Amino acid sequence: MSPPAPPAIQFQNVSKSYRNGQVRALDGVSFDIHPGEFFGLLGPNGAGKTTLISILAGLARASGGSVKVLGHCVVDDYAAARRALGVVPQELVFDPFFSVRETLRIQSGYFGVQNNDAWIDELLAELGLSDKANANMRQLSGGMKRRVLVAQALVHRPPVIVLDEPTAGVDVELRQTLWKFISRLNREGHAVLLTTHYLEEAEALCQRIGMLKQGKLVALDRTSALLSGKAATMLRFKTDAVLPAELASHARVTGRIVQLKAHDASEVEGLLARLRAAQVPIEDLEIGRADLEDVFLEIMQGASA
Ligand SMILES: Nc1ncnc2c1ncn2[C@@H]1O[C@H](COP(=O)(O)OP(=O)(O)OP(=O)(O)O)[C@@H](O)[C@H]1O
Ligand SMILES: [Mg+2]
Repeated sequence: MSPPAPPAIQFQNVSKSYRNGQVRALDGVSFDIHPGEFFGLLGPNGAGKTTLISILAGLARASGGSVKVLGHCVVDDYAAARRALGVVPQELVFDPFFSVRETLRIQSGYFGVQNNDAWIDELLAELGLSDKANANMRQLSGGMKRRVLVAQALVHRPPVIVLDEPTAGVDVELRQTLWKFISRLNREGHAVLLTTHYLEEAEALCQRIGMLKQGKLVALDRTSALLSGKAATMLRFKTDAVLPAELASHARVTGRIVQLKAHDASEVEGLLARLRAAQVPIEDLEIGRADLEDVFLEIMQGASA
C-alpha cells in the first residue's frame, strides 16, 4: 500500500506576533487543507488571513509553529514548498514597465518553466486578457491588473492555489469568468485556499470553511454543516419603522431589510406576534434558510477571542 498523500497545506500551531509581541496576529492556528479541496478562510478585517498566507508563501516568518505545503516545510524546504504554490496576493504589486506577456514570461522563468507560451495564451484567454497581452502593466485598470496577478500565480501550474481576496474590486463578469476557471482547475485536482469578504462566493464555492477571529480559528467545518448547524431559519422583511429594542438587539439590519433568527415555526410565529404588537409595518416577508453571512455573524458575535 502506498502511504497516504500529505495534506495540500498543513498549519500546525502557527503564531505570529508583531511589534515585540504587542500585536498577536495569529495565535496557535492549526488545520489542514486536503488534496483537491476548495477551502474558504473567512474572518473580519485584521483577523490574520493575509498574515497566515504570507507565512505560507514564505513572505513572513511565523513566531511559532510550522507550515507545510504537500509535505514540504515552508522554511526548511522553501523552494519545493514555493514551487507547489500559486499565490494571488491581496495587494496589487507589479512592475509597470513590462507588458502583460513579458510579466508572465518572467514569472515562468522564475519557476524554471521553459516554452510556456501555449499555457500563457490559455491563461490570457481564460482571464479575458488576450487583447491586453502587449499592453504595459501601467496602462491596465485595477481589475485588469488583478487578472494579471491571477495569471501570474498560475503560470507554473501549481498544485495548490492560494487566492487572497481575488475578487475585491473586480466586475461581475470577471468574477464569473474567474470562478469558472478556478473551479475547472479545482475539478482537475488543484487544491484551492480562498479568502474573501463576499460570503455568498464562499458559500457557493467552498467545500469546507475555516473562520479566524483575532488570530484564532473559531470555526472549521464543512460548509453544509455550518449552514445547517446554527439558526437554520431566518425571517426576512422590509420596514421603515424602528424595531422595538428587544428585537433590534439581535436583528441583522441592512438598510430597510431586517433579518431575524428563528429555530423553528413556533419561533417564527412568536416573532411575527411581537412585531404586530409593536405595530411594525412589514413588506416583502420571506422565511428562508440561514445563509453563510448569518452563520458568520453568529459565530463572530459568539466567539470569544
Ligand atoms: N507588518 C505588520 N506590522 C504590524 N502589524 C501587522 C503587520 N501586518 C499585519 N499586522 C497586523 O496583524 C493583524 C492581522 O492582519 P492581516 O492583514 O493578517 O488581517 P486580514 O485578516 O488579512 O484582514 P483583511 O480582511 O483586512 O485583509 C492586524 O491587526 C494587522 O494590523
Ligand atoms: Mg488580508
